[in-house]
Amino acid sequence: DKGNFRHFMQKEIYEQPDVISHTLSSFFDMANGRTRLPRGQEVDFSKINRMVLSACGTGYYAALTGRYYLERYARIPCDIDVASEFRYRESPLSGVDFALFVSQSGETADTLASLRHAKAEGLTTAAVVNVDESTIAREADIVWPTLAGPEIGVASTKAFTCQLTALAALSVAAGVQRGVLSRDDELTLAKALSEAPRLTNAVLKLDSLIERLAHDMATKRHALFLGRGFNYPLALEGALKLKEISYIHAEGYAAGELKHGPIALIDDTMPVVVIAPYDRVFEKTASNMQEVAARGGRIILVTDERGAASGVVKDAELIVLPDMPEILMPIVYALPLQLLAYHTAVHMGTDVDQPRNLAKSVTVE
Ligand code: F6R
Repeated sequence: DKGNFRHFMQKEIYEQPDVISHTLSSFFDMANGRTRLPRGQEVDFSKINRMVLSACGTGYYAALTGRYYLERYARIPCDIDVASEFRYRESPLSGVDFALFVSQSGETADTLASLRHAKAEGLTTAAVVNVDESTIAREADIVWPTLAGPEIGVASTKAFTCQLTALAALSVAAGVQRGVLSRDDELTLAKALSEAPRLTNAVLKLDSLIERLAHDMATKRHALFLGRGFNYPLALEGALKLKEISYIHAEGYAAGELKHGPIALIDDTMPVVVIAPYDRVFEKTASNMQEVAARGGRIILVTDERGAASGVVKDAELIVLPDMPEILMPIVYALPLQLLAYHTAVHMGTDVDQPRNLAKSVTVE
């Protein structure tokens, strides 16, 4: 039932404050600000030497963000690959003792095959999975559930932000166990994560502003998405969302890669969506934006109050989010990208919930 919403995708975008809050509650004891893993699914993170992560599509972008989290907060060395490559790559797994898979459906053929491969290689396997009756949930040694509820729209939205939430929380738990984070750090990060429902709610208030920007996006044939660091995987996810449901050709790049090729595409017909909160790499991305602007590219800058105040590009379209701690940025910044793709597709009249050629669960390779 779509309730008052026009599409399941829109409903699921709007459910995010609630389902993120549910997902958080399974990784935190909110009363005392401590992380705790779901009962029976505990892991001694201090014993992990090296981790491999794998998934497909949007789950892969969540895992890519997970690597940033796990390396930053828990100092766990991470390898990562899309599941269709991981399962056949025959990479030597020496030194890797733990494998983490991310899947909404828990049935994706390549992800399942990768899980079985990792098990056969003797690794401990864990899965961040949304459907708890799924094959991946049954076969993984450890299951860390996302509590997004059923996701009907083919383009993943709430499952993605719940995956990010789970991965952020796991990284904090791992960081504490590994002695990378102090008790104070844990409290600070837990408190930061507990703000995710409030902040995602605040971002939903930007809906009509984003809908206006989508009018213009709907007239384009191509779009570029740029981000750095924690927000680089979001550039990939923003481009994927747009191409899946609006069929506009979109590419996501690490902002630093701009001058190594994609800058050749920039002219006044090319919209460039830049995800750049005022974080430790903002100045770097700012110079990429100046390169785009100097070539007539039209920038949509998704930033925060401080980023907007920096006045880096004069005629950029701005989507200004509240200031927030770094750990929250991938979770909260996902929403404006989802809304941009959604409204663009609605303007174009495509079938938002059932885009052409796509299936919700990809059970064949
Ligand atoms: C994108 C999308 C797909 C899935 C991918 C993996 O919006 O939904 O890219 O993320 O097919 O599916 P799961 O997470 O079910 O393994």
